[in-house]
Amino acid sequence: MAVPFVQDWDLVQTLGEGAYGEVRLLVNRQTEEAVAVKVIDTSQAKECAENVKKEVCVHKMLNHHNIVRFFGHRKEGTTVYLFLEYCTGGELFDRIEPDVGMSEKDAHKFFQQLVAAVEYLHKIGITHRDIKPENILLDDKDNLKLSDFGLATMFRFKGRERPLNRLCGTLPYVAPELLSQTEYKAQPADIWACGIVLTAMLAGELPWDQPSEICQEYSDWLKKKTYLPPWKKIQPMTLCLLSKLLLPNPEERITIANIQKDRWFAQGVKQPLGSLSSGANKYHRADDGVLSRTSSDDKMQFSSSQPDLAVGGWEAMLFIGQSDGQVSFSQPTKPEHMLLGSQLLGTPGASQTPWQRLVRRLTRFFTSESADTSLASLKGACDSLALCYKLTGKNQVTVSTLDKRNSKLTFKVHLLEMNKRVLLDFRLSKGDGLEFKRLFLKIKQKLCDIICTQKNAFSIT
Ligand code: ADE
Repeated sequence: MAVPFVQDWDLVQTLGEGAYGEVRLLVNRQTEEAVAVKVIDTSQAKECAENVKKEVCVHKMLNHHNIVRFFGHRKEGTTVYLFLEYCTGGELFDRIEPDVGMSEKDAHKFFQQLVAAVEYLHKIGITHRDIKPENILLDDKDNLKLSDFGLATMFRFKGRERPLNRLCGTLPYVAPELLSQTEYKAQPADIWACGIVLTAMLAGELPWDQPSEICQEYSDWLKKKTYLPPWKKIQPMTLCLLSKLLLPNPEERITIANIQKDRWFAQGVKQPLGSLSSGANKYHRADDGVLSRTSSDDKMQFSSSQPDLAVGGWEAMLFIGQSDGQVSFSQPTKPEHMLLGSQLLGTPGASQTPWQRLVRRLTRFFTSESADTSLASLKGACDSLALCYKLTGKNQVTVSTLDKRNSKLTFKVHLLEMNKRVLLDFRLSKGDGLEFKRLFLKIKQKLCDIICTQKNAFSIT
């Protein structure tokens, strides 16, 4: 059952998890409006409460179409709830195929929108400090929305800029000066992270574990060995911009004003003659979230071979109740007021259609076996990949491992029985999104014998 959170708002499912806590989807029974709520337990660490205060303070100042809207917050005991714009399109990393990336056209659009968000932040004196695909969401129209202001801070006030010294962010995305100097400038560090995101979008891999010369890949970049991956996968015009974004000296690194003048940034992707109608070099996403080249158009298509499951029907069933993991439909009924007593700044427009409320999760698949058999196969796949796992609930497995960078990677697999099939839903709890996706694909490959091949979902072509 969907569980009422505050009157007439139902907590329908968990959207994501992080070190801070969880982000859940709330749906209003009457208006069917959807908002995301970030639930933070501040009892864990002393500095956590301070960090959340700062996150609220920064996020509520922000007003830009490429930044996740902040609607308000509420405190109950040691738990803080942040009410945020719900981004139906999910995380940017779900659009990145490991080792391939995405089409240059999409990467160009997302990069322009990311730069617009960062330009706005820097203009008002705020730096994000943790720009990475996991903190970039997409709305129903595939517009980019920068999210998670947990590490953001003010670097300029009344025209006076201060240098920063807190070492924070995510190692593969941090600028080299953070590791080599005690103080750093805010803006070039964010710009560097944008360069790493652009590389990930175009090549489907991160260029290095960290930007220090002990790291071979980084020293190869400093030596301009662009015949190596990921650089060799990238067009010369884009590589030219990347070489300005990823300049080791922050004083020499390109500024936002100059990014906007860059040829690739301003002019974008030139479609080779003849490719416009053929749609060459576009990507197709099958129901498993895997992108592959396709020749069709850029529209979202939903299809179902089962007439009793209306278009999107099975996706609608994924509104999972919090208490018992059962699947239920959220019943539209009566009025709002979930946020009475909270410090609301405004409410989202009530314009979302049921389509837009659907959750696009790509790291999941159906099996044609029972939950027990699926679970046994999943355990077998984990064993053969030398992954540690634990049963952490009825039909829930938590898998932990170290990725190729020796960083911790933890994800959960929920097994949900529906219509004689079992959905295996994989969710990242901790670690790198691309590594998670690589591992998801390996597990999926191991389970290929029991995966339901029935055309059951949607494809984005
Ligand atoms: N995951 C984390 N935050 C989210 C949001 N605001 N919308 C959708 N998914 C999310």
